[in-house]
Amino acid sequence: MKTLCLLGSPKVRGNSTVLAARYCETAEKLGSQVQTFILNKLSYSGCQGCRTCKAKSDRCVLKDDLTDVLEAVREADVLVMATPVYFGDVSSQLKGFIDRTVSYVADDDTNPYASRLSPGKTLVFIQTQGDSDEMIHADIFPKYEFFFKKWHGFGETYFILACGFIGKVHVEDCEDVMKLAEETAEKVMA
Ligand SMILES: Cc1cc2nc3c(=O)[nH]c(=O)nc-3n(C[C@H](O)[C@H](O)[C@H](O)COP(=O)(O)O)c2cc1C
Repeated sequence: MKTLCLLGSPKVRGNSTVLAARYCETAEKLGSQVQTFILNKLSYSGCQGCRTCKAKSDRCVLKDDLTDVLEAVREADVLVMATPVYFGDVSSQLKGFIDRTVSYVADDDTNPYASRLSPGKTLVFIQTQGDSDEMIHADIFPKYEFFFKKWHGFGETYFILACGFIGKVHVEDCEDVMKLAEETAEKVMA
């Protein structure tokens, strides 16, 4: 089992990063191979909408630090995406990656959503937010879950949500949500 973890927070010990680390440590203990990319440390462009990945190539033709990340997803069984909520959405670091995954969609004549990824990968989506009301940003995960299932052929999905974490309130001090990360890894690895 291969787990690929993408960290969308610019903070080294960010809430989403710490939760992702707990998830990954647990998955590793249970036998998964884990590879992590800190998106904020990479240099990459957003999708150019050039459609070369439809017409001429089965890969994104932009060559930058996301090239290896996009390749690593092809090899992974489990994709972990961890993000803070920024203005009601994922961080720009993560959104930049997500837009480039359009290169996995073959867009052939018979099927507009023919994925180039092997089907049935698992998505673990970790979202941390300042607002303590869990309904406030309840649209984010379903939105990306839809695309990863319909466009990229993902199978099972898991959602880890941590609300009310802003300023000095940190997930590390909240055993409930840390436990949720651990338990989610146990479920995925079962
Ligand atoms: C630019 C910016 C925008 C934010 N926008 C929101 C928001 O729309 N809703 C919210 O609940 N929290 C918002 N927050 C708070 C973060 O989502 C929250 O502190 C989160 O736990 C940070 O995660 P991290 O430590 O992994 O970076 C924002 C923070 C920043 C810096």
